[in-house]
Amino acid sequence: MTYFKCSPGRSLSGSIRVPGDKSISHRSIILSSIADGSSTIKGFLEGEDSLNTLKAFQAMGVSIEHQADKIIVNGVGINGLSKPAKKLDMGNSGTAMRLLIGLLAGQNFDSELIGDTSLSSRPMNRVIDPLRSMEAVIDSDINGTAPIRICGQSNLQSIEYDMPMASAQVKSCLLLAGLYAKGETIVREPAPTRDHSERMLRGFGCNVSTKGNEIRVAGGQRLSANDIDVPADISSAAFFLVAASIAENSQLTLKHVGVNPTRTGVIDILRLMGADIVLSNHREIGGEPVADLTVRSAKLKGIDIPQELVPLAIDEFPVIFVAAACADGITRLTGAAELRIKESDRIQSMADGLNILGINAVPSEDGMSVTGGHIGEGNIESHGDHRIAMAFSVASLCASGPVKIFNCANVNTSFPGFVELASSVGIRIISDE
Ligand code: S3P
Repeated sequence: MTYFKCSPGRSLSGSIRVPGDKSISHRSIILSSIADGSSTIKGFLEGEDSLNTLKAFQAMGVSIEHQADKIIVNGVGINGLSKPAKKLDMGNSGTAMRLLIGLLAGQNFDSELIGDTSLSSRPMNRVIDPLRSMEAVIDSDINGTAPIRICGQSNLQSIEYDMPMASAQVKSCLLLAGLYAKGETIVREPAPTRDHSERMLRGFGCNVSTKGNEIRVAGGQRLSANDIDVPADISSAAFFLVAASIAENSQLTLKHVGVNPTRTGVIDILRLMGADIVLSNHREIGGEPVADLTVRSAKLKGIDIPQELVPLAIDEFPVIFVAAACADGITRLTGAAELRIKESDRIQSMADGLNILGINAVPSEDGMSVTGGHIGEGNIESHGDHRIAMAFSVASLCASGPVKIFNCANVNTSFPGFVELASSVGIRIISDE
């Protein structure tokens, strides 16, 4: 079992590029596979999650070649996928499973999706229910969990759907199903969520309209091949934004980071806490805004996290809680019940770990209250959750002694090379079995 052994740190410095954006990497494979023609993807995240998506499309007959620094996807067209010989294993990835359920609902073949223990306990009814109202035929475990059996339908009907939760996975699933449905599918979200699907669909020549909180896509459209340059993942950069903020005398630059406004909640929250983060070299690459981020150490203070920033920072709360543990005063998060159904129950995993390190962290149904203090030493269980493991590696910078983190193999789902990159900027971390 992989564990991380971290020692209290020193100042961080350097200029690094973290791996490619996970959300964009999944979508780049999905859309280029069903497009007409060959697409080139640069900066693809070679992590287990996005590689599972890639393997799923290979299993459905798409030829995908790895070249030195890029991937070539030879799209088979909107109706060109073929029945996979085996169950499609999505591993740890909720995004892969939920997006694929939508896509597979409208194919002319049956399929089955499976995942690891964590993924097999995550709720899938949030996509299955609206898909069933599109006349999709989908069967799950009794609890609405994987394995998911999909009986492909060639006569999906469009729907108009008010999403009960702010979820880009649900939205994207329905947009993908909508490509195969008769008529126009309309999805309304209760709060803005990441819009990579909409942007990328447009990049592939598809007509997707967004007006306020409403997104529309008509079925029967074809996609044309498109070259994609995946920016560095702001969710991976977030660990270093907090690390360089809390380690004294630090200055770190994170290059080529995706700064899509539906993803930058972490920057806004850290700045409200007093962080010194400067964006430079703004540019737009393949329809996505990109910038270099420079972060310097700062004295952080506790805040009440604004509700509207919650969906825009949903994956960054583990490390935001670490920032809160190092801040003066109390940080309060509410309205984030979604954190309980991520790769682990992130409210409980973080509260337990912070308490072990001597921090007063009080979980609630939909959030947590963290009182800044002195981080001690201890042994932490990551529950196989990549972001919990990396968040506590960052916490170790300010710890009074060693921090050992267990069950860290899943860091490879989103951030291959984390230990090496973190070490290169001054985090004292070793990985062992
Ligand atoms: C993702 C959406 C978010 C996020 C996940 C990736 C995506 O999930 O937590 O890591 O790529 O669409 P929800 O949409 O369920 O909030």
